[in-house]
Amino acid sequence: MPAPSNQSFCASSIIGTGSYMPEKVLTNDELSKTVDTNDEWITTRTGIKERRIAAEDQATSDMASEAARRAMTAAGVAPEDIQLIIVATVTPDMFFPSTACFVQKKIGAVNAVCFDISAACSGFLYALQVARHFINTGNRTTALVIGAEKLSSLVNWKDRNTCVLFGDGAGAVVIRRADENADAPGRVLSTVMGSDGNLADLLKVPGGGSFCPITPENVESRPNTIHMEGRETFKHAVTRMLEAAQQALEMAGLTAADVSLVIPHQANARIITAIAERLNLPNEKVFMNLDKYGNTSAATIPVALDEANKAGRLKRGDVILLVAFGGGFTWASSVVRW
Ligand SMILES: CC(C)(COP(=O)(O)OP(=O)(O)OC[C@H]1O[C@@H](n2cnc3c(N)ncnc32)[C@H](O)[C@@H]1OP(=O)(O)O)[C@@H](O)C(=O)NCCC(=O)NCCS
Repeated sequence: MPAPSNQSFCASSIIGTGSYMPEKVLTNDELSKTVDTNDEWITTRTGIKERRIAAEDQATSDMASEAARRAMTAAGVAPEDIQLIIVATVTPDMFFPSTACFVQKKIGAVNAVCFDISAACSGFLYALQVARHFINTGNRTTALVIGAEKLSSLVNWKDRNTCVLFGDGAGAVVIRRADENADAPGRVLSTVMGSDGNLADLLKVPGGGSFCPITPENVESRPNTIHMEGRETFKHAVTRMLEAAQQALEMAGLTAADVSLVIPHQANARIITAIAERLNLPNEKVFMNLDKYGNTSAATIPVALDEANKAGRLKRGDVILLVAFGGGFTWASSVVRW
């Protein structure tokens, strides 16, 4: 495990959360009518019961914009107050312009600088850390950090190994500079990040980019869909998420015993349980919503954070542990004092 990638303790606070999930629900039973699977297998192997699917004419930026509006309303900030928009996504509207630029246009955040981050399921926590750096250096005071995905557009609906796992959605937070000495609510205490490109082939969308453009010859083999070595990914996910969580806690001067709620990436209930057991955290301190949404990659953590917030599970002063793992491989963890 490489050393934590930063040691900075900047005073950035989450002042509002928001999320948007598409209306259409696709259940395990419905999926089992189109691919050789069943509710029993999916539920016992993953914990997923259903997922949301965006409308055909709904782009990632549409979901991201709605989540952003809700986060801004919760934070009490106007679009003009937003100085930075970072969208974490592996399903951008287009290769360029960035999805963040489309969000800027849709929400009217005319004063923002906008770009995307590609770090798969760790993308939101990567984006949070980048936004913290902007705030820490004094360039910006108020930022929108968004995780949004239309993974249904990247799924091979004939591959039962992967199509049962993923779903669509978007989550957002507004973060704002706080006085470093002040006890501001929602303060991000620490973030650690890591990557291992040597394992890039275990989870990827190999086609559709410059490496393997889609051609009439290769289109049938669907290279522009998600390919994953599930078992190998599973093992690395448990190890890296655990290490990252422990490092983020250590960096914040805390231990797992201080954690009020862990919000882990929602890829597989067995991964989450394994991590919670190793951190000695009881079920009531572990947030899970993957039964409803499956794995929504970069959207997962901000959607879960918003749902936990709305459900009253985040109390002032609580220590919230966020931890994610995804393609790259990438991983990250943040500790937030609510
Ligand atoms: C994908 C995952 C759920 C598969 O579970 P698993 O227990 O490892 O299952 P395996 O891949 O070993 O497959 C076991 C069997 O189930 C079958 N299977 C796979 N998907 C199936 C499905 N949807 N329905 C029914 N059977 C299925 C396989 O074909 C295999 O059959 P075989 O033994 O006859 O070959 C699991 O590996 C996983 O969650 N991986 C990590 C995902 C992750 O962490 N992602 C994070 C980054 S996004």
